[in-house]
Amino acid sequence: MTILDIIEKKRDKKELTKEEIEFFVDGYTKGEITDYQAAALVMAIFIQGMTDEETTNLTIAMAHSGEILDLSKLNKIIVDKHSTGGVGDKVSLILLPLVASCGVAVAKMSGRGLGFTGGTVDKLESIPGYKTDIDINKFVENVEKIGISMISQTLNLAPADKKLYALRDSISCVESIPLIASSIMSKKIASGAQKIVLDVTVGSGAFMKNLHDAEKLAKEMISIGKLAGRETVCVLTNMDEPLGYSVGNSLEVKEAIEALNGNIQEDVKKVVLELGSYMLLLAGITNDLGKAKEMLNENLQNGKAYNKFLELVKMQGGDATYLADLENFEDSQYIEPIYSEKTGYIYSMDAKEIGKLACSLGAGRVRKEDKIDPSVGIVLLKKVGDYVTKDEVIAYLHVNNPEQLDSAKENIKKIIKIRKEKTEHLKTIIKIMK
Ligand code: URA
Repeated sequence: MTILDIIEKKRDKKELTKEEIEFFVDGYTKGEITDYQAAALVMAIFIQGMTDEETTNLTIAMAHSGEILDLSKLNKIIVDKHSTGGVGDKVSLILLPLVASCGVAVAKMSGRGLGFTGGTVDKLESIPGYKTDIDINKFVENVEKIGISMISQTLNLAPADKKLYALRDSISCVESIPLIASSIMSKKIASGAQKIVLDVTVGSGAFMKNLHDAEKLAKEMISIGKLAGRETVCVLTNMDEPLGYSVGNSLEVKEAIEALNGNIQEDVKKVVLELGSYMLLLAGITNDLGKAKEMLNENLQNGKAYNKFLELVKMQGGDATYLADLENFEDSQYIEPIYSEKTGYIYSMDAKEIGKLACSLGAGRVRKEDKIDPSVGIVLLKKVGDYVTKDEVIAYLHVNNPEQLDSAKENIKKIIKIRKEKTEHLKTIIKIMK
């Protein structure tokens, strides 16, 4: 068997065997298959697709490309969460300390920004000192000691996904159902999750642009979960406009800290409570969804969720003074107000365009090796459906490069669309699939 035969087979829309998929995953992880060969195969998969059986085999091969974490010594049901990606998605930063404060053990391996979407690891690293690349023993020890640890994919867990994730990002092969399903589920299986809650985003700022594709992705992940013996619940959420108000790394961390202090935006709250209540249910903390939401709400308001986040940041080396005083986060050099040019209702704020704008300012990567600028991004003051008056400030641009200011201002004014006719607010939670 050679990689050339495998590429040719997929190029010609034929089904790959389990052995061929394992040969590819193993060879690529070890560096025996080159990036350009892997890129050719990934592009062929992107175009020709995969059967359910191929996707499951890819998932299992990637999960076994490194260690499988054994968290049985924690003596708890391990429930993990993952999002299929979004713009302004700071949910993990709020949800995970919150559920940990309710007694769910959180051992979370997060990703970096992918395409126009942000990544939790890049956000956590905007807290000076926070280490996302701690070793596996320290990771488990932190979960044992304080009930939560949040790290990057730097450990030997699903290393094949780590390589493929970065490769897909650099060759425009992210938006593929088999590639997303296998990427997410391989990480969850490798990191020891027994039960899984997935935020499957739908809309312009998501990789799944319509409900039909999002349902297909959710079904695929639920079926992989079943085969692997990991109960999986998918919450389909709206990503036509950014979630919450801020887009950009430290800007989102600041919004998350405010949320953990009880000042949480309505759409973010809906997503956090929906995902959180299923996490509490699957962890066996309660069997009543309403009761779960009450518990979560209470810990958002009484400081317990915030204190858990503080413990996490301290435990992973982060400077806690940044949490106590948000002024400590360094601002970008320019903070430009954007004024509404009309009176009326906001009817569209395309999340993908806003994500791309934030990336172009330095909040995301264009190439794998690019460095993130934590302070730049966009703060929106309005949501779709809000009424605005002419000359009212509707957003702020946070920019460091003065040469980008004028074009970014033009761009954001085009993205935030206003009209006279009344427009409804967007529905945040679309459906639940199990
Ligand atoms: N998140 C992942 O971990 N992988 C993907 O492919 C997309 C989102």
